[in-house]
Formats: sequence, C-alpha cells, structure tokens
Amino acid sequence: MSRKLKVVAVSGSLQRPSRTLVLVDQLLAALGEQIAIESRVISLGDIGPQFAGVLYRNQLPAAVEESIAAIESADLLLVASPVYRGSYTGLFKHLFDFVHHEALIDKPVLLAATGGSDRHALVIDHQLRPLFSFFQALTLPIGVYAVEKDFEGYEIASPALRERIALTVARAVPQLRDASPAATSTTPTAPAIRKPAPVALAA
Ligand SMILES: Cc1cc2nc3c(=O)[nH]c(=O)nc-3n(C[C@H](O)[C@H](O)[C@H](O)COP(=O)(O)O)c2cc1C
Repeated sequence: MSRKLKVVAVSGSLQRPSRTLVLVDQLLAALGEQIAIESRVISLGDIGPQFAGVLYRNQLPAAVEESIAAIESADLLLVASPVYRGSYTGLFKHLFDFVHHEALIDKPVLLAATGGSDRHALVIDHQLRPLFSFFQALTLPIGVYAVEKDFEGYEIASPALRERIALTVARAVPQLRDASPAATSTTPTAPAIRKPAPVALAA
C-alpha cells in the first residue's frame, strides 16, 4: 500500500481568524480530493511567540524544534503568508532561518499569499520564490494570491479565487505523483543532492 503524501503547511498569519489560514485549508482540501495526503498546519501565530527572541536552533523550545523538523521532513510544503509591508513578515523569515540550508533541496513547495491590495500579488514571485530558491527547493510554477475582497468574512467568496485554487492543484498534482515520498524526502545530515550528468562537449 502506498504511503500518503506528507503535506506540511506553514501559515505566516499572526492572527486568528485568518484569511491565509482559510486559503491554506482550501488548498489542502483541494489537494486531498486529488491525491492521498496527510496534512499538518503550522501557524506562525501559534508558535511565533515561542521563538521570536531565540537566536540559535539548539535553544528552541521542543514544540518549535518539532515544527521545524516537520517542515524539513515534509514531502510537500505549502507555504502561505499574508503580505506585511510588501513582503512576508520578519517572523516568517526568522522561522525559515532555523531550517537547515540543505533540508529543502528538491522539495516541492506550493506558494500562496494574501494581501489587502492587488498590487502586491508579486510577493509570490519576488519575495517567497527567491527564498525557496535559496533552499534549492522546487517551487511549483503556479501560486495563489488572494486579496481581502475575495473573502466574505473569513470564507472564500470569489469564483475566480476558487478557479485559481483548482488550477493550482491541477498543475501541481502531476508533479507530486512523479515525486514519490521516498524520492523527495531529505534529511539535513544526508541531503539528496542530484549530481548533474556529465556533458559531452563537441570537439
Ligand atoms: C502590519 C500590516 C501590514 C500590511 N501590509 C500590507 C501590504 O504591504 N500589502 C498588502 O497588500 N496588504 C498588507 N496588509 C494586509 C494583509 O496582508 C491582509 O489583510 C492579509 O489578508 C491578512 O492575512 P491574515 O488574515 O491571514 O492575517 C498588511 C496588514 C498588516 C496588519
């Protein structure tokens, strides 16, 4: 029997209720309709106060260390953040500063963000994607950006956003099927680094 894909979602929202969390839940639900997943949501609002003043990983409280270990061992990361001052929050970056720099190599990462303004939709490509490029993760080509007017209260009200979620998942699933859990899992101490095949140069 094949194992379920281990999906770890990180929501960068600092508050509840949260539109970012609603978006995360919808993406997980849509993914779960297409492939067998087991999911876990890590909310920055919940764990942030426990690590905001911590400088070194070996000083993290056990619950935060366990959350970071879950991020590192996920088959798929779903990363979503609200836009603050044109980017993700400093606390979001602080969380990922604790993640081992080789732990996300080749890991698929689905990116999402929420903001108040349409103008900041490029937060996905200009802020989130470069961060995960540093980690040599495989950010999926389509991300989801939602704005406050896509929600009524804390429920998705926009058909366009629903369509975007469906498209994002439809484009993601074939890539996730190829990336078997065993093939995508890495550990910080033994990262699966793919060596490029030798190239034969013409004389
Ligand atoms: C301190 C702060 C800064 C914000 N800065 C921006 C911003 O630069 N651009 C933007 O589009 N929205 C900005 N917003 C709006 C939030 O990104 C938006 O309300 C988001 O959906 C909140 O997500 P949440 O409900 O998950 O916390 C900001 C909100 C706060 C509280």
